[in-house]
Amino acid sequence: TPPDLIRNFCIIAHIDHGKSTLADRMLQITGVVDQRAMRAQYLDRMDIERERGITIKSQAVRMPWEADGTTYCLNMIDTPGHVDFTYEVSRSLAACEGAVLLVDAAQGIEAQTLANLYLAMENDLTIVPVLNKIDLPSAQPEKYAEELAGLIGCDPSEVLQVSGKTGVGVEPLLDEIVRQLPAPQGDADAPARAMIFDSVYDTYRGVVTYVRVIDGSLSPRERIEMMSTGAIHELLEIGVSSPEPKPSDGLGVGEVGYLITGVKDVRQSRVGDTVTTARRGATTALGGYRDPKPMVYSGLYPIDGSDYPILRDALDKLKLNDAALVYEPETSVALGFGFRIGFLGMLHLEIVRERLEREFDLDLISTLPSVVYDVRLDDGQTVTVTNPSEFPDGKVSAITEPVVRGTILAPSEFIGAVMELCQSRRGTLRGMDYLSPERVEMRYTLPLAEIVFDFFDALKSKTRGYASLDYEPDGEQEADLVKVDVLLQGDKVDAFSNIVHRDKAYAYGVSMATKLKELIPRQQFEVPIQAAIGTRVIARENIRAIRKDVLAKCYGGDISRKRKLLEKQKEGKKRMKMVGSVEVPQEAFIAALSQD
Ligand code: GTP
Repeated sequence: TPPDLIRNFCIIAHIDHGKSTLADRMLQITGVVDQRAMRAQYLDRMDIERERGITIKSQAVRMPWEADGTTYCLNMIDTPGHVDFTYEVSRSLAACEGAVLLVDAAQGIEAQTLANLYLAMENDLTIVPVLNKIDLPSAQPEKYAEELAGLIGCDPSEVLQVSGKTGVGVEPLLDEIVRQLPAPQGDADAPARAMIFDSVYDTYRGVVTYVRVIDGSLSPRERIEMMSTGAIHELLEIGVSSPEPKPSDGLGVGEVGYLITGVKDVRQSRVGDTVTTARRGATTALGGYRDPKPMVYSGLYPIDGSDYPILRDALDKLKLNDAALVYEPETSVALGFGFRIGFLGMLHLEIVRERLEREFDLDLISTLPSVVYDVRLDDGQTVTVTNPSEFPDGKVSAITEPVVRGTILAPSEFIGAVMELCQSRRGTLRGMDYLSPERVEMRYTLPLAEIVFDFFDALKSKTRGYASLDYEPDGEQEADLVKVDVLLQGDKVDAFSNIVHRDKAYAYGVSMATKLKELIPRQQFEVPIQAAIGTRVIARENIRAIRKDVLAKCYGGDISRKRKLLEKQKEGKKRMKMVGSVEVPQEAFIAALSQD
């Protein structure tokens, strides 16, 4: 297809504003999926995605569309919809010339609408503003058309109104995409350069790499080079999705399609990388490539220690499909053998854990998630700490923690509540804008550690569910952080060590000590529980001693019954962990680590 007949676009929206429904409707209206074959949410292939209603992996679909008597080729590139995947979103956007900015006509603009709009603007995309769900009785199209127009600086009459559900307005929207979006530009005679915006592992075909050709062209059976690593692969198949994969005889400037090379690991085909030809290839890669960088680390342990090899094999398999997943073996006094795993964020952690439990039938326990700290020692050396129990004991001169730039959108009556929450999470207000008299956008710099775990829930509960949040990494800052250890009868329990701000150390210590006092059964002797910073104890509880005599229940001489009881007690002990001389049931660790 010649570039002037191509339009590459994506749909950006806040979660639940109806992106997938609209995408499905477009597939149906352009005739690439017939109604009978149309599964709900065609683009969301993975079970977990569908159940959670989120899109993790982006994909592209080619659709024909006739406007003014000419048939155009529309490539719709799906973008993932969660903060953990901002980098993948930015690469999907970089593959497009324009974006449909979709806003629920009953909800208005939300934080993710803004965050995605900013990303689209950074990539110089043409924005087509659209209100969705106008069929809803609660829709307020005039009000929100004005809000949206004010935001992007157009006239409210230029805001399109559609319903992905009924199909109203979708055909005019496709016409506008053709009319407003620029055709792709590139040098057809230059060496090939194609940007990878997605890469998916397929059991049968190996890695399927989705690319957008910027310059030159790629043909079947050519040898290609991944420019970030210099690795060379044979191109076994090249094609387009419409939406089923269809081999083609090549991809030219502006085209979007997939490549199959037979590699088995998505790490060999990284999002953001540039593909060129092995012979007479390009010398300069396209900008914007970045290695995926884990933001949150957590230990994952099998509840049944004998499942360790299964966990190891499962991680090896998941890795093929997930370039951001990193892990190494780890042992814990409390939990035995497991792995330290790096994740892009909390959602990524939940998804990985859920897949391990569901697809590999494992029961797992995860330790307190930790962000990545840089600890500078007095001798000038810097250590990177991803596990609180590895926090250096020596003299520390400075600690830096990752921070994010957060965008919070809320009705203006909640400004006070949002400020209070952000302040309690060590946030710094960077700016505030009214989108309308009732709605305000607040921009904060916040420590990642303060928001990854439960910030979103706290925000929702303080604003009766009306606030929305989005954030992206924004470097590091120095902070007054300390490591709090938890000790049972003087012995450290590694899984409970945590790095927290000095002002919050006491609260953490007290809550851990209280929790453990309830969870750990009494022993033959008194057991002190302490929380400490270095050698200084900041909280203390005692578990009083008892003498537990199982045999007391048996009257008289029934020896076989006695033996049975002793056997039972022995078995119970197997599931006990020894911390020093203290017996702790594994359940106590699990309960103490579960977040409430
Ligand atoms: P993610 O892809 O998970 O980010 O969400 P999404 O933005 O794709 O939303 P999705 O298409 O899953 O729609 C969210 C909800 O809104 C679903 O319950 C849809 O049935 C509903 N919905 C989507 N479009 C419309 C519409 O035009 N009208 C009405 N009434 N409901 C809609």
